[in-house]
Amino acid sequence: MNVLVTGAYGQLGSEISALSGLYPELNIIGTDVDSLDITDNKSVEDFFKKIKPGFVINCAAYTAVDKAEDEIEPATLINATAPGIIALACKKYNSKLIQISTDYVFNGKGFRPYNEEDPVDPIGVYGKSKYEGEINCLNNNSETVIIRTSWLYSSYGKNFVKTILKIGKEKDLLKVIFDQVGSPTYAKDLAIVLLKIINQYIKSESNFTPGIYHYSNEGVSSWYDFSVAILKMANISCKISPVKSEEFITLAKRPHYSVLDKTKIKTTYNLEIQNWRESLLDCIQTIIKD
Ligand SMILES: NC(=O)c1ccc[n+]([C@@H]2O[C@H](COP(=O)([O-])OP(=O)(O)OC[C@H]3O[C@@H](n4cnc5c(N)ncnc54)[C@H](OP(=O)(O)O)[C@@H]3O)[C@@H](O)[C@H]2O)c1
Repeated sequence: MNVLVTGAYGQLGSEISALSGLYPELNIIGTDVDSLDITDNKSVEDFFKKIKPGFVINCAAYTAVDKAEDEIEPATLINATAPGIIALACKKYNSKLIQISTDYVFNGKGFRPYNEEDPVDPIGVYGKSKYEGEINCLNNNSETVIIRTSWLYSSYGKNFVKTILKIGKEKDLLKVIFDQVGSPTYAKDLAIVLLKIINQYIKSESNFTPGIYHYSNEGVSSWYDFSVAILKMANISCKISPVKSEEFITLAKRPHYSVLDKTKIKTTYNLEIQNWRESLLDCIQTIIKD
């Protein structure tokens, strides 16, 4: 079965491509903007016509959260309009869609893990555009699974873990925010889950149940706790000083609390999820080895 992966050069897309050898039943076709621009209706139509994917995992996104505040149009085109285009093509070619979304659809004023029924209220352009993408997918194709995830990192691409490792080696002291709390997610763990959902379905071991799901690694962390763990696991001696969000002015506001409740995805798809510390260690060992 053909599985189309968009945004395949990104963190999540790269992790999916790297795992493809473990799933011989799945013919994973990775594309990125150079081979399939998801904002281009005609290219999407032509691509679907050619490969007739059984599944599509849309990992393509505009993920520059701060830049999005100034670039509303491209962020909205890529994160909101394009998922709608993909969902329509999926409907036409009878493909099942997995759309990746974000914890930034919530305003972060909560005090217990957000479940899929909680009201959304994005506080920035990125979160708003991703939420519109969810709506467009669900409106255009009811056979869509939306997976919201948070604080994604990987040995591929640019992310918080790699930045802390780099700056930690260069400096003696880092200031990191302690009053934003969430759950880090190793993109490799999420990639395994996505391929498992598809594989279980094609082997008739479980259904493909459309709807919204939350997924992150288990456990809760502030950016400060996360950076302390990163440096400790990598044996880097740089010190870290905790600071409030106000001391770190960014263009986009970020939710103070964005922990996701993962009960629904665990029960529906029979998943066990690793704690973020174990997964972080896996990722750091991979980065150091490479
Ligand atoms: N990163 C996080 O912390 C985080 C947290 C929660 C949810 N998510 C969501 O998780 C998903 C995967 O994120 P990620 O971190 O893997 O993203 P990423 O590393 O930024 O990868 C996204 C990929 O999509 C490509 N892309 C951009 N516009 C495109 C277009 N028009 N057509 C085709 N491809 C295009 C990007 O290319 P360019 O690099 O050339 O633009 C990039 O290769 C996204 O839906 C994101 O919103 C991410």
